[in-house]
Amino acid sequence: MQLYETITGLRQALDPQRKAGVSIGFVPTMGALHAGHLALVEASKARNDLTVCSIFVNPTQFNNPDDLARYPHTLEADCQLLEAVGCDLVFAPSVEEMYPGSPVLRLDFGELETVLEGAFRPGHFNGVGIVVSKLFNIVQPDRAYFGQKDLQQVAVVRRLIRDLGFPLELVRMPIVRETDGLAMSSRNRNLSPAERQVAPALHQALNKARAVLQEEGPIEAAKIAVNDYLQAYSAFRLEYFEVTNAETLQPVEQLQAPGATALCIAAYLGQTRLIDNLIV
Ligand code: PAF
Repeated sequence: MQLYETITGLRQALDPQRKAGVSIGFVPTMGALHAGHLALVEASKARNDLTVCSIFVNPTQFNNPDDLARYPHTLEADCQLLEAVGCDLVFAPSVEEMYPGSPVLRLDFGELETVLEGAFRPGHFNGVGIVVSKLFNIVQPDRAYFGQKDLQQVAVVRRLIRDLGFPLELVRMPIVRETDGLAMSSRNRNLSPAERQVAPALHQALNKARAVLQEEGPIEAAKIAVNDYLQAYSAFRLEYFEVTNAETLQPVEQLQAPGATALCIAAYLGQTRLIDNLIV
């Protein structure tokens, strides 16, 4: 496995491969890798000749400086994990390499970013859109792999690909969970042992909501069930729970066809912000 820190170095490595007809799968990450990321790498390896993983903690997508400061940096351990699953190339640029000057470009995803993460993290998807576009331009992959845990990010990237005409396929992979149901996330490392113990309650709250909706209860009843459930855990501060269309992420009035509704949740557990979702 080769590690590249410069755009030129990575391009020089990939250009001849691309010209030779080698297919390229791409897994963009911010590092602090876990089994969820490794599942993306494995999925890429299964369908592409070469797999590139980027590790870059993108400052422009953090609207909260404390969140950025707390984000784990574990490049050496990440490279060991990637090597073990057979990733071919790692791209780990510095902030200066990616942003020689602050970008003046602004991306507006319309109503897609007025809800959920977009509403609670203003500017977040502008930062995601810019860095993902830049990474797509550098890597020029045939396929890019994203996890369902960041469902709204998947929708934003799908839109980006469509609007800017990136010639690649977006592959969405299911959420990978710990055995107790907690969705895997780099941020889980920031949980104290006591917080880690109660963290699966977020997923359990989603299960409660699903049960209410599947018994034909109204959306309001699902919201009450989530609130009531999390109220038993004083460490949680719920930011949102919404029942949405799984593609557009806009709120819905009732359960849609199977697979078309997403239950989306975000909450602080102590200092750590967690998100999760269920597609029903
Ligand atoms: O999902 C992430 O880790 C990030 O948002 C991404 C896609 C790597 C862009 O920085």
